[in-house]
Amino acid sequence: MIKFENVKVAFKQKNGEFVAVKDVSLHIEAGDIYGIVGGSGAGKSTLVRTINGLQQPTQGHIFVDNEDITQLNNSQIRELRKKVGMIFQHFNLVSRKTVGQNIELALKIQEYPKEKRKARVEELLELVGLKDKLNAYPASLSGGQKQRVGIARALATNPKILLCDEATSALDAQTTVEIVDILKQINSSLGITIVFITHQMEVAKNLFTKVAVMSEGEIIEHGTTYEVFANPQAELTKKLVETQIDIPDKIISKTQGKIIKLTYKGNRSVEPIVAYANKKYEVVLNILHGRIEYITEKPIGVLVVSIIGEAHQIDKALEYIKANTEGIEVIREKGSEVA
Ligand SMILES: Nc1ncnc2c1ncn2[C@@H]1O[C@H](COP(=O)(O)OP(=O)(O)O)[C@@H](O)[C@H]1O
Ligand SMILES: [Mg+2]
Repeated sequence: MIKFENVKVAFKQKNGEFVAVKDVSLHIEAGDIYGIVGGSGAGKSTLVRTINGLQQPTQGHIFVDNEDITQLNNSQIRELRKKVGMIFQHFNLVSRKTVGQNIELALKIQEYPKEKRKARVEELLELVGLKDKLNAYPASLSGGQKQRVGIARALATNPKILLCDEATSALDAQTTVEIVDILKQINSSLGITIVFITHQMEVAKNLFTKVAVMSEGEIIEHGTTYEVFANPQAELTKKLVETQIDIPDKIISKTQGKIIKLTYKGNRSVEPIVAYANKKYEVVLNILHGRIEYITEKPIGVLVVSIIGEAHQIDKALEYIKANTEGIEVIREKGSEVA
């Protein structure tokens, strides 16, 4: 559905240029809910804005639905935008127009037949569960309702692609879940390909089928959300995923010995592995924290344990654990009190 080929976006500056997107190649397939995560200033918005012609690439090619959109004239860009809807963090609704008029405006801009507009507005409001808000003004709506209007407006002309730039970042946790559910539903019932930028990891884990991690204009890691988050390779990705497991510093500082984090896939328990390592090697393993997380509805287990013992015994125990789990990460090498 979307293909980036060596895309570069540079902004001219007084002394030279600033390269916001460097040589990005990426393939987003029809039906994906493709997420782009990364720190502020990474180039996420700039990259995504090339998909609907809001931003021209400096180099490279972008194909949308098999058409090269890199060099379009204005009327071709208008056609492209019928295929590519977009929603924003701050909704961007016209405040002096009603909900119905906001959506109608989008239909008008995109030359939707006048006599069909009213019915289409109703259909769209039905889709996002806001039928009773047809004549309400944006100021009287909650954040979640405003974003529903944003979604209805973006879907006005039946696009094949929906771009979402931090679309849930201004919403509270509960409303975020509601919007995520609507987007999932739209993706599955209408088959729309969704490209979603966010810094909210909860959204990423629940919504995205695939994810790309962006840093300093480059895509440093990409794949299915489960694979990328269950087995992160890049340091940045590890950091993004890691903040999900918080153990109070107080507990860490009170605990003796080495502290490690094990990850394991699926529902199976690793407690027997820990128990066996305890028995087989001259070490004392202690479970500090354990939980099962769900990434795109598939489980991944995380267990934090402390280990006390002689160095070579610890090494052997870790080797055994490593062979039987998905991965080990040392959280702290040694305690303040030497074991
Ligand atoms: N129109 C512009 N002119 C100059 N620099 C820009 C422009 N748009 C974005 N940038 C710069 O490009 C970098 C990437 O911006 P952006 O794509 O918005 O990042 P993100 O969405 O990941 O936070 C930032 O350093 C930003 O300041
Ligand atoms: Mg941005």
